[in-house]
Amino acid sequence: MEREGRRIYIFDTTLRDGEQSPGVSLNVQEKLEIARQLARLKVDVIEAGFPIASPGDFEAVKAIAQEIEGPVIAALARINEKDIDRAWEAVKYAARPRLHVFIATSDIHMKHKLRMTREEVLAAVQRGVSYAKQHCQDVEFSPEDASRSDPDFLCQVLEVAIAAGATVINIPDTVGYATPPEFGRLIALIRQRVKGIENVTLSVHCHNDLGLAVANSLAAIENGANQVECAVNGIGERAGNTALEEIVMALFTRYDYYRCKTGIVTEEIYRTSRLVSSLTGMPVQYNKAIVGKNAFAHESGIHQDGVLKERTTYEIMNPAMIGLVQSNIVLGKHSGRHALRTRLAELGFNLTEAELEKAFQRFKELADRKKEITDRDLEAIVEHEIRQIPEKYVLQHLHISTGTHVIPTATVGLKVGEQVWEEAACGEGPVDATFKAIDKITRLPLALKSYSLNAVTGGKDAVGEVTVQVEYEGRHFIGRGISTDVLEASARAYINAINKLVYDVGEENLHYLDEVNNANARPGVAK
Ligand code: KIV
Ligand code: ZN
Repeated sequence: MEREGRRIYIFDTTLRDGEQSPGVSLNVQEKLEIARQLARLKVDVIEAGFPIASPGDFEAVKAIAQEIEGPVIAALARINEKDIDRAWEAVKYAARPRLHVFIATSDIHMKHKLRMTREEVLAAVQRGVSYAKQHCQDVEFSPEDASRSDPDFLCQVLEVAIAAGATVINIPDTVGYATPPEFGRLIALIRQRVKGIENVTLSVHCHNDLGLAVANSLAAIENGANQVECAVNGIGERAGNTALEEIVMALFTRYDYYRCKTGIVTEEIYRTSRLVSSLTGMPVQYNKAIVGKNAFAHESGIHQDGVLKERTTYEIMNPAMIGLVQSNIVLGKHSGRHALRTRLAELGFNLTEAELEKAFQRFKELADRKKEITDRDLEAIVEHEIRQIPEKYVLQHLHISTGTHVIPTATVGLKVGEQVWEEAACGEGPVDATFKAIDKITRLPLALKSYSLNAVTGGKDAVGEVTVQVEYEGRHFIGRGISTDVLEASARAYINAINKLVYDVGEENLHYLDEVNNANARPGVAK
């Protein structure tokens, strides 16, 4: 049944503020894939990027603007002509484009960062919003660090922005400093004092430095805000942004209190969270509200008993509402393509024939080593192994010798085109040895920036999920791999990062090392 009540617009900034999370770097294909999923989730606005920031950001915003239908597509710009031109150049292809311009308004930012007076900032807002308006009908204005700005000055700035044509006024708590009552009061004050505010969308953008981003956004809604900027899994600068899934489910679950609705298809939340985690390489903490592994797990016997008798005794949300569906089908090594296709479709993965074939091969390999293949295993196969860019290097074989009193040694075979290249190397440990052997084949100057290993499911035959981040000439690439053997998963993850790098940088632009330094190495051999 359609709910009554005030409509809250969900502005998703996973691809812009979210991508500013330390260590996260998405390529154009990955951003497009997330944008497609955000469209299925039915967010109202996708902030696709900050086009002036890099050519990659520009291309991603352009590709999203050209392809994605449904949501408004926004591009961020500082309030100067060069930034605005570049943002418009990328976002103009969208059916419903938005230019999002910002400048700081707190004394601390104006004095130390901008080195501008209040009068100069006011003039820049007038000029910048008017200039953006010449390109685009829909212009959002953000006074950065609004929550630490002088409220009188802030209101003055907002009036100038509205008079110059802003259609959305967004109030950022840029450093996550505000508390809910205070932030709520600021929104109420803006609504009372700013001329023309009733004619624009009033938005908020909260950071989570004190863990208050969702609470502050809810306080803002109670005081009249009708757009919330948020990111999937709460990713973003430093401690992140308001978590999309939390704000949406808080409004949904506590409709009795807020009397507000969103247009989000909540059943897509879990899948969106998994996709973003997988592509950004940022794991979701186990106890994360709504989408964490433990969010619907009941450990205590009393709780389990209660839930078995009546789910609502200890569950305020039905897991099915976020798309967490349990299946009665157990897949194993006797399952065929049809069963796999059916289960994948139930999980929301509609693969092409070629993708299904690839998934089926990996499924069979896994089923040979693991009795029961769970939904999480299937998700891992699709997330890590299927949605892939062209692979220059394919793992052919891996042999590792390790132990307590031996030097860890790895022999790796990589298929490159029709040829298999083999190398061996020693290392501090078996993973190090494996990566060094791979380096000897690729001869790329790589630095390993991070390595993490997670068990996808429990049990002795659990699937290990490895995520690595490598640096090549100042750029970061994330690779993922899965296997019941964690060393194989490590090799797959490392090779995945290298393939992405080759794809993104382009073969013709790569720089190779003359030889890879390893005292114990033997010369490379093509077999
Ligand atoms: O946190 C912030 O102030 C921002 C603005 C650009 C909206 O991200
Ligand atoms: Zn921000």
